[in-house]
Amino acid sequence: MNKKGCAIVSGSSRGIGLAIARQLGLDGYSIVLTGRGERESYDFSFFKENNIAHIYVQGDIATAETQKELVREAIAAFGRISILVNNAGVAPLKRTDLLDMEEASFDRLIEINTKAPLFLTQRVANTMLQYKREHAIGNNEKVGTIVNVTSCSSTVASVNRGEYCISKAAESMITTLFAARLAEENILVHEVRPGVILTDMTKGVKEKYDRLIEQGLFPMQRWGTAEDVANAVSLLCDDKMTYSTGNFIDVDGGFHIPRL
Ligand SMILES: NC(=O)c1ccc[n+]([C@@H]2O[C@H](COP(=O)([O-])OP(=O)(O)OC[C@H]3O[C@@H](n4cnc5c(N)ncnc54)[C@H](OP(=O)(O)O)[C@@H]3O)[C@@H](O)[C@H]2O)c1
Repeated sequence: MNKKGCAIVSGSSRGIGLAIARQLGLDGYSIVLTGRGERESYDFSFFKENNIAHIYVQGDIATAETQKELVREAIAAFGRISILVNNAGVAPLKRTDLLDMEEASFDRLIEINTKAPLFLTQRVANTMLQYKREHAIGNNEKVGTIVNVTSCSSTVASVNRGEYCISKAAESMITTLFAARLAEENILVHEVRPGVILTDMTKGVKEKYDRLIEQGLFPMQRWGTAEDVANAVSLLCDDKMTYSTGNFIDVDGGFHIPRL
């Protein structure tokens, strides 16, 4: 049994989540991968090639059934959940002006981007606490780390996808709330806020951002990569993070810096 326990990374079938899962695997954790598709439809060869113990759990992360199964399978396979990364997320199916935003799109984003991380965090935190009690872990020892992958959209207004901004701003408050609640238990809760990262999610707006990047939208003049985000998550989960919780890291090439 791996003494470091396992990391659950939601939405790790591809994109940012897959990069996070790979990095945490290299950091020594066993990995619980998740996605909606059949296992065969994804390429998880990296884990086998690098001797990283892993399982895949299929299902819609917004359902209680999938969340319960995820926790159950993680414990059955690896004994201990040390890390949860709430990464699974979606953008609106179409960009619509705030004045025409549709209720169905709002509900979809809140279900997947906000409600799913809220209740998955609750389930995993309770499991971490149970492990802490059963193994008499002292109050000065780190019990686990939870990282939410939100977005620069937690604070930056995009009026043609307001429901995304609202869902991510609410997820930022989930970070703050659980950080406050779990601090005394030594479960640390952090957040990464990616800017514009080259994945399937942004391929439809690639040309637009190619142009904006060339015009200097970001101080660091390039697309962000999934690995850039994974590196930040890895830092936040590091054992050297011992007396910090409720923090966030912008992974946005300096986009958040006000400039004149
Ligand atoms: N790309 C960016 O520029 C950017 C910027 C800021 C923040 N983010 C955030 O970063 C996270 C990852 O984004 P990405 O760019 O890697 O997106 P992506 O390439 O579209 O991948 C999304 C991942 O989430 C999973 N997923 C989506 N809905 C799910 C559901 N209901 N149940 C289970 N899994 C689900 C997908 O699984 P399937 O394979 O089953 O579809 C996939 O693994 C998201 O939270 C996103 O909001 C991205």
